[in-house]
Amino acid sequence: MHKPEAHILTIFGASGDLTRRKLIPALYDLFLQGLLPDAFSVVGAGRKGYTDDSFREQMRAELEEQSPNLPGSSREKADEFTRCLFYVSLDTSDPAAYIALKQKLEKVRKERSIGGNLIFYLATPPSLYAPVALSLASQGLTREGDDWKRIIVEKPFGYDLTSSRELNQQLRSVFREDQLYRIDHYLGKETVQNILVTRFSNGIFEPIWNRNYVSHVEITASESLGVGERGGYYEGSGALRDMFQNHILQLVALVSMEPPVWAESNSIRNEMVKVLDSIRPLSREDIERDVIRGQYTASKVKGESMKGYREEEGVDPESRTETYVGLKFHIDNWRWKGVPFYARTGKRLPTRVTEIVVHFESTPHHIFCDTEGSSDRNQLIIRIQPDEGLLLKFGMKVPGAGYNVQNVNMDFHYSSLSDVYLPEAYERLLLDCMLGDSTLYARGDAVESAWRFVDPVLKYWQENPSGSLYGYPAGTWGPREADGLFREDGLTWRYPCRNLADDGQYCEL
Ligand SMILES: NC(=O)c1ccc[n+]([C@@H]2O[C@H](COP(=O)([O-])OP(=O)(O)OC[C@H]3O[C@@H](n4cnc5c(N)ncnc54)[C@H](OP(=O)(O)O)[C@@H]3O)[C@@H](O)[C@H]2O)c1
Repeated sequence: MHKPEAHILTIFGASGDLTRRKLIPALYDLFLQGLLPDAFSVVGAGRKGYTDDSFREQMRAELEEQSPNLPGSSREKADEFTRCLFYVSLDTSDPAAYIALKQKLEKVRKERSIGGNLIFYLATPPSLYAPVALSLASQGLTREGDDWKRIIVEKPFGYDLTSSRELNQQLRSVFREDQLYRIDHYLGKETVQNILVTRFSNGIFEPIWNRNYVSHVEITASESLGVGERGGYYEGSGALRDMFQNHILQLVALVSMEPPVWAESNSIRNEMVKVLDSIRPLSREDIERDVIRGQYTASKVKGESMKGYREEEGVDPESRTETYVGLKFHIDNWRWKGVPFYARTGKRLPTRVTEIVVHFESTPHHIFCDTEGSSDRNQLIIRIQPDEGLLLKFGMKVPGAGYNVQNVNMDFHYSSLSDVYLPEAYERLLLDCMLGDSTLYARGDAVESAWRFVDPVLKYWQENPSGSLYGYPAGTWGPREADGLFREDGLTWRYPCRNLADDGQYCEL
């Protein structure tokens, strides 16, 4: 793999959680693998009064805590890496303060013999995304010559359709679309990228990946944790905004899109937008029938008392924010007409799992009556996390007299590729941006398209605050009402375990 060109990466919000837990460890790992340019520096920016030295010390301590056992790491390597870190103290919201940033960048550029290539990473509160971009432009820091300028924007990208459009407009007033990298860390996961490889590098899946053979598609993104200390933030967000609008709809797009012409940014992102635009908008009746929202209530899990959402710090005791959402929707195109998609996401569910289940139609004529279990439908399970892998469920004859059929598993686990290194999502995404590859970043039109689908639900909830919000005890699979989304007899959600192949039996949670 070729190395990126020399550049400076400026991180706004360098004293924050994301920088210390994800960005600096990801950069260090890239450094250890020799994937960073020879001339490279990070400039942290924020109000906190660090100096270059104290910022280095702080990040050094974070590396020891966050990435103690990285292969190839040593005291000398960590010293060498932290020498490329710098810091400028400024009030990010004050446009005049950007003169100091410009001067700092110039100084680092000269000291480290780096040309004019710059990446800006916005790890600040979202209210600062547009002000930072506009202030950078006012100092001429977005202008390209022979060099390039790129900006990475964290989620959330807007709060609804209107605010995401506004943010897109503001950013596009100073950056071209191809300079904009909207990060959705789900797209940086190996297993998410593997959806494309599974579908489009094998001859056996694509011919049956359509309404003729698929009965329905199910997506689960569950978390076992509650909101923790982020109650204040979560109150203004909820599961639909926090998980569904971005991560789950990206998974929907990858699993349902048409084959791209090439494995290249525009080809892939064009197909993703096309399918997101094809999701049937939900009417008021659809929302009332097919969108179930829930909120976790206090309970005991494994003997440990768990708070209800309304008892969490920073949460309104009468809050109507959803910590769970389960919904059913359709994609109106030739491939998927009539195939329901079911998705659910929530906090304080029994285990942390993200997976897609493609349920295939049953055989047209049943000649074996003794099929064990309720379903003779084949399922392909694409496990995003944990125990990343693929699982195909199909019927096999039980040895002995007659034709007893049993559902069995054929599974592949990434962990079996023991010599293959699975990079962290942020590592892959940072490197892609450095290389100018935006394939795994969300394009502006795709973000707006996702908000367009979600917006009517948010509006309906806002206009009908007393609409149904179901409680579910912490540690359970969400409100029972979500099972009612499957109106066909015998169908229900798959109840996954941490281990991909363990289901329908006792789960070690
Ligand atoms: N943490 C994650 O795992 C994660 C995951 C996905 C997305 N994100 C997104 O990434 C962004 C940063 O998240 P974070 O968790 O790192 O947040 P954080 O811990 O609150 O850090 C944000 C940083 O922004 C700086 N800042 C500048 N102006 C600020 C202001 N007016 N008010 C508050 N802080 C200000 C602060 O540094 P100074 O005080 O030094 O200026 C602070 O350290 C957010 O937009 C978040 O939604 C975070």
